[in-house]
Amino acid sequence: MNAAPRVRSTAPWAKPRRVRIAPSILSADFSRLNEEVERVERAGADFLHLDVMDGQFVPNLTFGPLVVEAVRRLSALPLDVHLMVVDPIRFVEPFARAGSDHLTVHVEAAADPVGVARAIRSRGLRAGLSLRPHTPLDSFLRVLPEYDIALVMTVEPGAGGQAFLNDSIERISAVRAAIDSGGFDCLLEVDGGISVATAPAAARAGADTFIAGHSIFGATDSAAALVELRQSVALG
Ligand code: DX5
Ligand code: ZN
Repeated sequence: MNAAPRVRSTAPWAKPRRVRIAPSILSADFSRLNEEVERVERAGADFLHLDVMDGQFVPNLTFGPLVVEAVRRLSALPLDVHLMVVDPIRFVEPFARAGSDHLTVHVEAAADPVGVARAIRSRGLRAGLSLRPHTPLDSFLRVLPEYDIALVMTVEPGAGGQAFLNDSIERISAVRAAIDSGGFDCLLEVDGGISVATAPAAARAGADTFIAGHSIFGATDSAAALVELRQSVALG
């Protein structure tokens, strides 16, 4: 088997990072979810990304723990659950029980981000912290040591299929610098508008986990799209 692709770093002393691809099922055909999940799993997906929207933190509404629990039965892949909900601590228990492996909350939505991280970790899950594209980085970076995942939104959260915001590159670099200088064991995920056109720059800025909805499930061949995305960051 081939070695996992590595993101080439601009810093020669930095450790090579393992690339992970997380298809976002938001753009999948829910009437054929089983086949859609099976296809990306066989093509080498590392995680499945599930977007939970509450109609308050973002205008859109998607699904709750019931669907996470159904996807849990469809796949053995780690479930990377992105909570775009207000007051997310209320939902840690139900989403943990539904079989989530990673639970990511928004810094703008959590009254006590440290308390939420501890609640998630105490259930044996990886805790993730996300922020909107225009949220200042300082409050996010202050609590990041409590988290296992930094999820940098590269579009305004709320919908799939939007264009990648180029200003995100600098924010990814700043989060990467904070992770490396703090020596944190933390994944750096990027989410929104990720494709072969945008992922290489995000990888060079320090992202290691690439969430992609439209560019994978919107493609005629989702398995080939996933493989091409992985190759684009390996060469980036
Ligand atoms: C947007 C969601 C994303 C979305 C990404 O609010 O957080 O996970 O599915 O979709 P694409 O890759 O289509 O931008
Ligand atoms: Zn997401």
